[in-house]
Amino acid sequence: MSMESPADRVIIFDTTLRDGEQSPGATLNVEEKLAIAHQLALLGVDVIEAGFAVASPGDFAAVKTIAEQVGMVGGPIICSLARATRQDIQAAAEALKPAARPRIHTMISTSDIHLQYQLKKSRSEVLAIASEMVAYAKSFVDDVEFSPMDASRTDPEFLYQVLEQAIAAGATTINIPDTVGYCTPKEIGTLIAGIRAHVPNIDQVILSIHTQNDLGLATANALTAIEHGVRQVECTINGIGERAGNAALEEIVMALQVRKPFFNPYFGRAVDADAPLTNIKTQEIYKTSSLVSRLTGMLIQPNKAIVGANAFAHESGIHQDGILKHRQTYEIMEAGSIGLPENRIVLGKHSGRNAFRTRLKELGFELNEADLIKAFNRFKEVADKKKEMSDWDLEAIVRDEMQVQVESGYQLEHVQVICGDCTCPTATITIVTPDGKILTDASVGTGPVDAVYQAINRLVQIPNQLIEFSVQSVTGGIDALGTVTIRLEYQERIFSGQASDTDIVVAAAYAHINAVNRLYRYLQQVQTSPSSVAH
Ligand code: KIV
Repeated sequence: MSMESPADRVIIFDTTLRDGEQSPGATLNVEEKLAIAHQLALLGVDVIEAGFAVASPGDFAAVKTIAEQVGMVGGPIICSLARATRQDIQAAAEALKPAARPRIHTMISTSDIHLQYQLKKSRSEVLAIASEMVAYAKSFVDDVEFSPMDASRTDPEFLYQVLEQAIAAGATTINIPDTVGYCTPKEIGTLIAGIRAHVPNIDQVILSIHTQNDLGLATANALTAIEHGVRQVECTINGIGERAGNAALEEIVMALQVRKPFFNPYFGRAVDADAPLTNIKTQEIYKTSSLVSRLTGMLIQPNKAIVGANAFAHESGIHQDGILKHRQTYEIMEAGSIGLPENRIVLGKHSGRNAFRTRLKELGFELNEADLIKAFNRFKEVADKKKEMSDWDLEAIVRDEMQVQVESGYQLEHVQVICGDCTCPTATITIVTPDGKILTDASVGTGPVDAVYQAINRLVQIPNQLIEFSVQSVTGGIDALGTVTIRLEYQERIFSGQASDTDIVVAAAYAHINAVNRLYRYLQQVQTSPSSVAH
């Protein structure tokens, strides 16, 4: 067995910052990636795939910063993806230098369709490159993961040869990607069983699975692979990722937790053995999921397993009746097990700063004095309109304030909108520019949100297209806070922004400014480092 990998549990390899960031529009800057990486470490993931170091200066900086600040002794393994080329591997090795436990994840396609049309290489060439590049990666780090891309559509005989050679060259983890999300669970089981039976040195490594969700089978495929002896799962928070995404970390972890008696025997344990099957602190799941959703601008569908808004809600009378009599009649896990805060009414407009600080601390937010004052002022403003503030409202407020911190750039000063059935919707906006000028302008629009959008665009003068606008209510009730998510497009890149307020037009204005600030920062980065636009 390689490294520290115990075969009696599942190693969680989180690729939110690499494959997850490949979701259209989910681009994250270095600070945002670092914030997610810190939270992933709190969640207890074993490996963080922090990026694809060679892809751009931004990716390189993210891997390096995460290696420095999250990958210290006692922290998770920090990994960078690298194609099987010297240049990629060198970039990965360089970015990973500060990590206490660095891993290079190198990959090359092995299916005939990829070899013929994409790589234009023969099988023998790929075989040689795979083992040469694994050995090259090994010259930098001890921990080398190898992925034969499109493994599930590769001729099994050829796959066995590639894997055997990669292991002989020094790979410590062998990852099997179902790159196009094509397999059914039964086929995945056969594939893994075939590899275990036909690759003679397979017991020297940890066997891993990477499942894409094109047919909605990613989680089922990963769990089946575990039944067949796989001991590392590659997954992302909220299942985000290329196309239809990846296996969702929260689904894999909670399936292993809730159905432990079912999975225990596959690990050689007694059915009722109590030890967890992963190292994940499940109470951190909800917080991690919200953070990733907010920073990527990728909303979670309400019926998403584990973390969707409806995942623990019971609508039908029969179900509600059962729940009231005995929770387990209709609930297989408790909301508290993923750290979902109860929607308790906690504070009101008369609550003081101390009560506010104490409740935030209980919710896991440690704010410095300056941030606390800002968040408290915002709380007072909202509490004036919305008499009772729940944990969910507090969270929305604090997250907004923390976002404003990260998003330096334009500041929204005032927003005023006139609308109705006999008037042309008109918005007047005042902003402070990054260099401190106060500007005001007004615009009409097809509706109040459009008018706000047009007025902000007139002020910031950065061309962009609004491609998505959505509102979610934080809690129920007529005075609920609404969270607005906006996605803007600029030259085929997507930038998102989110904000909450009791007035959704005001939330829309703040969300738009947040998205514009991301675009603004991107343009600044392009100006200082033009090569970063290449990827
Ligand atoms: O989908 C895929 O094949 C990948 C590999 C790099 C693991 O993302």
